Amino acid sequence: MCGIVGYLGEGNVYDVLVKGLHRLEYRGYDSAGIALVNPNGNINIYKTMGKVDNLEKFCQDKDLKALAGIAHTRWATHGEPSDNNAHPHFSDDGEIALVHNGTIENYKLLKDALIQHGCQFHSETDTEVLVQLIEYVKLTNKCSLLDAVREALKQVIGAYAIAVIEKNNPDTIIAARKSSPLVIGIGEDATFLASDATPIVEYTKNVVYLKDEEVAVIRRGKPLKLVNLDNEETNIDVTTLKLSISQLEKGGYPHFMLKEIFEQPSTLRDCIRGRVVEDGKRIMLNGVNDNKERFLKAKRVVFVACGTSWHAALLGKYLIQDMCHLPVEVEYASEFRYSNPVLDEHDIVIAISQSGETADTLAAIKMARKAGSFVYGISNVVGSSIPRETHSGTYIHVGPEIGVASTKAFTGQVMVLTMLALSIAQLKNTLPQEKINELGKYILQIPDLVEQVLKLNEKIERLSLIYTYARNFLYLGRGYSYPVALEGALKLKEISYIHAEGYPAAEMKHGPIALIDEEMPSVIIAPKDHLYDKIVNNVQQVKARGGNIIAIVTEGDKVIKNIADHVLEVPEMPECLTPIISSIPLQLLSYYIAINKGKNVDMPRNLAKSVTVE
Ligand code: AGP
Ligand code: GLU
Repeated sequence: MCGIVGYLGEGNVYDVLVKGLHRLEYRGYDSAGIALVNPNGNINIYKTMGKVDNLEKFCQDKDLKALAGIAHTRWATHGEPSDNNAHPHFSDDGEIALVHNGTIENYKLLKDALIQHGCQFHSETDTEVLVQLIEYVKLTNKCSLLDAVREALKQVIGAYAIAVIEKNNPDTIIAARKSSPLVIGIGEDATFLASDATPIVEYTKNVVYLKDEEVAVIRRGKPLKLVNLDNEETNIDVTTLKLSISQLEKGGYPHFMLKEIFEQPSTLRDCIRGRVVEDGKRIMLNGVNDNKERFLKAKRVVFVACGTSWHAALLGKYLIQDMCHLPVEVEYASEFRYSNPVLDEHDIVIAISQSGETADTLAAIKMARKAGSFVYGISNVVGSSIPRETHSGTYIHVGPEIGVASTKAFTGQVMVLTMLALSIAQLKNTLPQEKINELGKYILQIPDLVEQVLKLNEKIERLSLIYTYARNFLYLGRGYSYPVALEGALKLKEISYIHAEGYPAAEMKHGPIALIDEEMPSVIIAPKDHLYDKIVNNVQQVKARGGNIIAIVTEGDKVIKNIADHVLEVPEMPECLTPIISSIPLQLLSYYIAINKGKNVDMPRNLAKSVTVE
């Protein structure tokens, strides 16, 4: 899940590449590197461990003159994060440089064969095999760089987005992709390439999303050319970007994560806009309306997703079961893809993914399509792979999420799932129209209610000080609040590195209750719903063991207020709509605890925003 950038044009090559790397840093930040073809036809490669800032320091006294270049920010899969393993990698003869996002599954086989041919390797990465193979093919076949790239890629098994340059040719960059994303930006006197559109948007809005096994030939002063691995020209579909630069900046907040938490009233408005109409009476999801027959004949729904998106999927299960009387299964995409799932044309497989690029989720989609199921995608990134690989779907429209910990994408996903369940219910007549009206009206109020909940910010900041040094946390919830507990625990883990377990509150007494003492706080999500009396029991059970309790409760709650150590009150909502509201205080709590501990909340260690590798 590294990020790659390339640039060939009249501007300052180094500046464009480094700025682009900063935008892509959410994809990985183990090391960063750059290769510049200078006017003398040499390639200068500078690379170093750590973040892009380090690379900039490293480059301060270097020769940065260039006519074209490629750059990379790494999330290591093969070989530890080190200067040596950092990209760009170069061929044995130093003629070719390459950056890569993905994994090469048959790299060992290829590497052994190349070593037999006398090739020397300088890193532990799978990537290096690509550049050495391209060099080998080029020398053996005495062919152009384009032909060498094509022929080499035919021998490769795995996922790749690559950009390649060669010495003495500052006028060409060759790029290609399979299963890892790659976007080409077409400017007036420059061409860009990147793992997503964020490094490109400020220079041009005209982009081309490369398809699997397509090779882009970027040449100075000539139009972009696309070919397949057999050198046949393919069509160029130019798309106009809707992204704006202000969406990519912090807007006065110290961190993207905080900005994204506070953006939720407006992102939820964007998500709902045009979809809940006639004052809440009708839910209009094109993805459902355009595929009525598929939804009417569906006998089952299967969700596939990872991480936070999997938590949203679990909420999707509660919503669809309650509203549409359909059986629902929720699968981790990474397990599903290797589990011989039994699927047929009566199944609707719903893939949820913020990035739209998660490798496991993509693989699950491909299996579902093969089995004849109708595949529906819920994604954020327009033009990403998942929306392109699914039959239909809905964008959450919450704008770019840069913080590695997902916040506004989670609430956007839950919002879309709520509208999806309601629109299926509308279609199948499984919910009385009055109920749909009532919920539709509440949905329209959610953005304002989220704004109200965000006023808890200072209270939560103070509260966080008490709990910053806890070493373990338990997050408990029941029914619709159970996935919220799982998501709350994940948020805390990923950015503060505190061990946190999310659990169904009633299951706690079958094991985890043994952990409870005065040093193990419990966060209990306990809004007024049909399980309220039951969760009050669970709150008592924790208190009886001397545990500290932070409870998320409905405004005006008195019972839990008397038992818990701290309560955070959220507005009253119909049960199925509480998750969006009650997850906001948990996002803030994790954020402040991580900040108190001095952690880098936007780029937590070992993580990357988009997991495009297995
Ligand atoms: C969320 O905070 C995580 N960083 C992570 O679990 C994420 O949700 C997961 O990798 C799935 O990503 P996707 O939604 O882009 O597919
Ligand atoms: N496999 C490559 C490496 O480890 C690229 C990693 C990636 O794209 O995540 O350097």
